[in-house]
Amino acid sequence: MELCVALDLPSAEENLALARSLKTYNIWMKVGFRAYIRDGKPFIEALKQINPDFKIFLDLKLYDIPNTMADAAEEIAKLGVDMFNIHASAGPVAMRTVMDRLSTYEKRPLVLAVTALTSFDDATFRMIYEKGIDEKAEQFAKMSYENGLDGVVCSTFESRAIKEATSDSFLTLCPGIRPFGEDAGDQQRVATLDIAAKEGVDFPVIGRPIYKDADPQAKVEKILTTMK
Ligand code: C5P
Repeated sequence: MELCVALDLPSAEENLALARSLKTYNIWMKVGFRAYIRDGKPFIEALKQINPDFKIFLDLKLYDIPNTMADAAEEIAKLGVDMFNIHASAGPVAMRTVMDRLSTYEKRPLVLAVTALTSFDDATFRMIYEKGIDEKAEQFAKMSYENGLDGVVCSTFESRAIKEATSDSFLTLCPGIRPFGEDAGDQQRVATLDIAAKEGVDFPVIGRPIYKDADPQAKVEKILTTMK
């Protein structure tokens, strides 16, 4: 497992201070809509300056026509980030177009597909996708695997079934982790690190349990020790 810290604080200064407190660890940093829209490319560069070995996951969940997605994917590759994501519902042509475009890059970022947003309840999800979350997430994962993506964003509780339906090496990145059973906040189905390890999660994404802790550095240290 490789830890991915969600940089979800309200300002660039606070996110960078968190990153600075974790600079001795070669971990993943998740940069989402809020931070990227507000702070852009200079923010990515500032993170790399703090620790050039930080890996960056740009969580922008691309969804558009295939050519526009491939154009965006290429710009993301030029930013030098290590991983980004698209919506699986953009479909197989979009997936192949993105992967074809990135194939010219010697060191391309990993590409993951979002299966089902965890904020959906099953009834609303069915209204839109006409299938239950578990069934559709697995179908989206197979589509992503068959069209050359590296993995999916999914719930910890879908990780094992997705790997069984695709491959053990097909990556799963899972939010909703409460490493040692901390407060779930607005997350519906949370998993501890032990459960994530059992379910074969490759990247546990952890936000609040780290940045709301009185000592984020000590918390990360404890998480990394547990993950070993
Ligand atoms: O604070 P917490 O650990 O719940 O943060 C989880 C992170 O993962 C947040 O950045 C959230 O936006 C993100 N995320 C999620 N569920 C998804 C996709 C992303 O919680 N399905």
